[in-house]
Amino acid sequence: MEKNKILIIDDDKLITWSLSRDLTSMGYKVETVSNGKSGIKQYARNTPDLVLLDLKLPDIDGLQVLKAILAENAEQIIIMMTAYATVQTAVEAIKIGAADFIKKPFTCDELKLNIDKVLKTQELSQKVSTLNKQLKSRFGIDQIIGKSPQMQQVINLVDKVAHSDAETILITGESGTGKDIVAKAIHYESPRMDYPFMAVNCGALPDTLLESELFGYEMGAFTDAKGRKQGIFELANRGSILLDEIGDASPSFQVKLLRFIEEKQFKRVGGTKDISVDIRVIAATNKDLKKLVKEELFREDLYYRLNIIPIELPPLFQREQDIELLVLHFVEHFNKKFKKSLHKISKAAMKKLCSYRWPGNIRELRNVIERVIILETGDTILPEHLPAEVLYYNGLSDEAGSLTFSAEGTPLDEVERSLVIKALANTNQNQSHAAKLLNISRHALRYKMKKYNLLN
Ligand SMILES: Nc1ncnc2c1ncn2[C@@H]1O[C@H](COP(=O)(O)OP(=O)(O)OP(=O)(O)O)[C@@H](O)[C@H]1O
Ligand SMILES: [Mg+2]
Repeated sequence: MEKNKILIIDDDKLITWSLSRDLTSMGYKVETVSNGKSGIKQYARNTPDLVLLDLKLPDIDGLQVLKAILAENAEQIIIMMTAYATVQTAVEAIKIGAADFIKKPFTCDELKLNIDKVLKTQELSQKVSTLNKQLKSRFGIDQIIGKSPQMQQVINLVDKVAHSDAETILITGESGTGKDIVAKAIHYESPRMDYPFMAVNCGALPDTLLESELFGYEMGAFTDAKGRKQGIFELANRGSILLDEIGDASPSFQVKLLRFIEEKQFKRVGGTKDISVDIRVIAATNKDLKKLVKEELFREDLYYRLNIIPIELPPLFQREQDIELLVLHFVEHFNKKFKKSLHKISKAAMKKLCSYRWPGNIRELRNVIERVIILETGDTILPEHLPAEVLYYNGLSDEAGSLTFSAEGTPLDEVERSLVIKALANTNQNQSHAAKLLNISRHALRYKMKKYNLLN
């Protein structure tokens, strides 16, 4: 490590002389002053890496000097020295912000140990704070882009919730609307950021596997359990967990989850001991949980337990103001990533992007921009660079929404035709997806398309 500048503030000439000799011979740059006031002055003039400060000085009290220096630089490392060490003054100095305390008389080796220790601690805490800053800039609230009132509301809420004591948060929104980045922002903006953020997909694993992933297991809990394993709930203690696709959780898993959320306690699979943890549960889903509750596919009690702080992410097409901002953001991002220079975007291309329905929301928008930047050359993004579904989108999807009932009545056929058109537009003309949206078979959809003259 590169040697540091040390300022010694002590009126004992013999000590300052021998200390500065020893420390200089170890390679430190040493300055000495013999009273508190000149210590403060000297500190301001030539900020050292470390201050060795005597508690008892001829002019002002060492604790006052300590406060004055910390007022200038709260991060300054100061080691207090005194011949009159009492536990009380030591505790007070540490409380005020001294890094350590050493009792006179001390040997040079003892002092060196203290210095090494505090410098090491400082180095580590600097590393941690740099890492934290990096994490925040990657996953923090600034990553959520959006100036629409809806997104501003979401961003405010994320900020509030992150710093609150809220233990459960429910994020809902269509696929690709940003549930993941919102969950991460809640974690990385919160004091929990020093502890893990872990995510688990409740719909992707069979129940038994999901349980052993989350709760861990004891040796012999099942045939393959060769030893004890901690689950995610234990590993993420004091941090946050994202329970993704919560709407897909099985009924039996829902029961276990409810117990966990209510008691913050669980047993490892095959275990008898209750384990308590402090975890913030962030649940996310693209399903309509209320509807699932009505259909008895989701437990009502769990729904209410989760829905204490709901954060709803609106589909992208409902926040047109954000589309342009996101386009510009991703254009810059991918230009940088792929070392391209398509920084400009024609008005016509932007218009196409802003009027498209974006069924896959921000994920789809991101992918479209990524593809354009990879494939195209030159400096401007033009309409013809855009994929067909964006380029030829005709906006018919809103036809059903704009239907009005007239005094003579509205023919049902007209409504049905509009709904078929809407379903097809929302799914990029994908017939099987459109059929799913309408809850009819693909065959039935084809029949209706023929009936309404929609098969070109
Ligand atoms: N507001 C936003 N600002 C910037 N990027 C965003 C925003 N919302 C989403 N994204 C980006 O869009 C992509 C999809 O977002 P994310 O994975 O968070 O969606 P999701 O709602 O979790 O989707 P799914 O339901 O499929 O899991 C990610 O690359 C994410 O970084
Ligand atoms: Mg997600």
